[in-house]
Amino acid sequence: MLTKVMDASSTEAIALASRLFKQGELVGFPTETVYGLGANALDRDAVLSIFAAKGRPADNPLIVHIWHRDQLEGLCDIPEGAEPLMKAFWPGPLTLLFPRTERIPDEVTAGLPTVAIRMPSMPCTRVLLRECGLPIAAPSANRSGRPSPTTAAHVLEDMNGRIPLILDGGECQVGLESTVLDLTHGQPVVLRPGGITKEMLEGVLGREVALAGSILRPLKPDEKALSPGMRYRHYAPKGSVTLVEGPEEAVLREMRSRCREDREQGKRSCVLCFTEHLEALSDCDPHDIGSAADQRQVAHRLFDILRKLDQEGMETIYSEVLPPEGVGLAVMNRLGRAAAFRTLRVQ
Ligand code: TXA
Ligand code: MG
Repeated sequence: MLTKVMDASSTEAIALASRLFKQGELVGFPTETVYGLGANALDRDAVLSIFAAKGRPADNPLIVHIWHRDQLEGLCDIPEGAEPLMKAFWPGPLTLLFPRTERIPDEVTAGLPTVAIRMPSMPCTRVLLRECGLPIAAPSANRSGRPSPTTAAHVLEDMNGRIPLILDGGECQVGLESTVLDLTHGQPVVLRPGGITKEMLEGVLGREVALAGSILRPLKPDEKALSPGMRYRHYAPKGSVTLVEGPEEAVLREMRSRCREDREQGKRSCVLCFTEHLEALSDCDPHDIGSAADQRQVAHRLFDILRKLDQEGMETIYSEVLPPEGVGLAVMNRLGRAAAFRTLRVQ
């Protein structure tokens, strides 16, 4: 199959994408978080082909994308607390779980009683969702296990020949997947941290929001994943990533010495560091993850850098860490998983 790449702002591209959705085909499209691999959420076979194209396990449910509140009608019930959150953060990078109706195929929700729904804010995505008039089920448009795509080129890397069309909307503004929040069990719980932070959610709800236990550590062998996606190895480059944590000088010293030792053993080795430390780490092939003072910049760059590490054939990678607060929590959740939570704590 030939994969076409078209400018997401062109009317022709939007018309073709809507036609493909109506015919049960897949389209790669941009959102403000990451690129999605979409299909008509009400078409079982189309949804199944998403799993095939991604190589995704069937027990990992998908997010349904809408552009208008009216589309919720008939798909789900509205749990308590959802109204003010939708008002505050939709359209935007917040996914909510809703008790679902029979209209949503089991293939979308992996048989769960809830469906995850979000309303993206990127203007061309909204035009696409409005034009096709369908709820669109879409996971991130990467092959399963790879970092989520934040450019059309990333989608092409993973999906070339597997899907008919990719809409190119440039770089995704947020760069990490949406926050997933479960309100269906009383106490609100963040299942996956993202651009809408725990603090922002608490500000609107006026109550405490809990974090799923496995956000900053691996799942225990007997632990049930609240969000099935948490079970899988994700975001991981082929090389081994190690996080280095501690006082600044000690971290820089440790990264320099680890990198040197690895190279003496003939390994390709590099560091992921803040812009402020590029010079101090100039001997370690530094990859600039953004300023330590700008967590959103780090979020925006992270997945592109993780993909580059594979292209460069890096075997060992040492990374600085952000404090796990605000958007830093989302960054550390993805980086932690990329590192299989391997962490060096230095003094
Ligand atoms: O930003 C995003 O959310 C992107 C863009 C394309 O919208 N989508 C995305 O989808 O990241 P995906 O499939 O890569 O991640 C969806 C996450 C998974 O961790 C999945 O397990 C969880 O949401 N999820 C979906 N439905 C769920 C449900 N009913 N209950 C619990 N977790 C659910
Ligand atoms: Mg994904």
